[in-house]
Amino acid sequence: MKIGVPKEIKNNESRVGITPAGVFELTKRNHTVFVQTQAGFGSGFFDEDYLEVGAIILLTIEDVYASSDMIVKVKEPIESEYGLIKPDQVVFTYFHFASSEVLTKAMIDSKAICIAYETVEDADGSLPLLIPMSEVAGRMSIQQGAKYLEKPIKGRGVLLGGVPGVPPGKVLVLGAGIVGIQAAKMAAGLGAHVTIMDINMKQLRYVNDVMPNHVVTEFSSEYNIRKRIKETDLIIGGVLIKGAKAPKLITKDMLKDMHPGAVIVDVAVDQGGCFETTKATTHENPTYIINDVVHYCVANMPGAVPHTSTVALTNVTLPYVIKLANEGWETACRNSLPLSKGLNVVKGKIVYKEIAEAFNLELSV
Ligand SMILES: NC(=O)c1ccc[n+]([C@@H]2O[C@H](COP(=O)([O-])OP(=O)(O)OC[C@H]3O[C@@H](n4cnc5c(N)ncnc54)[C@H](O)[C@@H]3O)[C@@H](O)[C@H]2O)c1
Repeated sequence: MKIGVPKEIKNNESRVGITPAGVFELTKRNHTVFVQTQAGFGSGFFDEDYLEVGAIILLTIEDVYASSDMIVKVKEPIESEYGLIKPDQVVFTYFHFASSEVLTKAMIDSKAICIAYETVEDADGSLPLLIPMSEVAGRMSIQQGAKYLEKPIKGRGVLLGGVPGVPPGKVLVLGAGIVGIQAAKMAAGLGAHVTIMDINMKQLRYVNDVMPNHVVTEFSSEYNIRKRIKETDLIIGGVLIKGAKAPKLITKDMLKDMHPGAVIVDVAVDQGGCFETTKATTHENPTYIINDVVHYCVANMPGAVPHTSTVALTNVTLPYVIKLANEGWETACRNSLPLSKGLNVVKGKIVYKEIAEAFNLELSV
């Protein structure tokens, strides 16, 4: 199959859809891979790295789309790419269709086969192509939180690990899912005192089993949260209720109970956030302060570490890319339930229920 890897052109997106390691696996199987020049640059991969494993470097994005049977990307196509997508071309990327009617209609018009990373689903309901980004964001949340606790950037002036003779900082993690567990692990590694809360006892039992003793589990309730925030230096928001807005676990009036200069990192900002005072920020301007509490609410945290994020993402997408290339999309989706769940728009028809419902459009089955 002819596979194309365009350079991402969405603002501030430095990840790339396939790494040289991925190209190596594809060319080994006699597939042809077209990579747009500089596509991997932002993630630390150079044209020479791709050439070495048999990729063909093309100069323009137009050439990449025109030459390929399947496009492998990271972010949804933006408007200038809509016209480049051909009928029957497979596009494998994050789409997040439900958040854009314009994109949905453009992909219907394109008559392409759109397979969305975010809806590829394992038999147990987990979303394998979203997990690595939660892992990155969870780990990063502590790195960012520790930084914004520093005084020169308006934080409380607390070193999370403490020093001999000075107790460590206190971290509260809301949600013991992928983000929460990775955050707790990082905070514990720095020597902080960590409390992690969830409403799912199974998750809390797991955390209790695998984490060191200075990571304490506590059931998530308003009473417990109100009590705990009074002593906390850093709060991480990592809750998720699938398909719904995040619950507001910390209201504006609760901020006055926190230490001035305490920091909250709301990773769940992409689902509306679990703090009442959350509003999405960017890497250029990541924080704001309300009631003396520093808020960090960047909606695409993995974008700041494109090398790690690209490798983490492509580790999990590559097996699907290989399957699609080897078998063609129809056979591959027939043989793989997770991949079939990724089908969102096929040759002008919406085949994913939630997308049709989101815009009152017709669903084809
Ligand atoms: N900002 C970013 O860049 C970024 C990156 C990746 C993920 N995210 C977001 O982070 C959030 C968490 O993702 P995840 O992969 O960890 O989800 P997850 O499903 O693995 O975990 C969410 C956890 O929240 C728990 N929860 C639900 N209600 C709760 C409550 N009232 N109190 C405490 N815990 C509660 C659930 O039981 C679950 O264990 C999602 O909104 C996700 O989209 C953001």
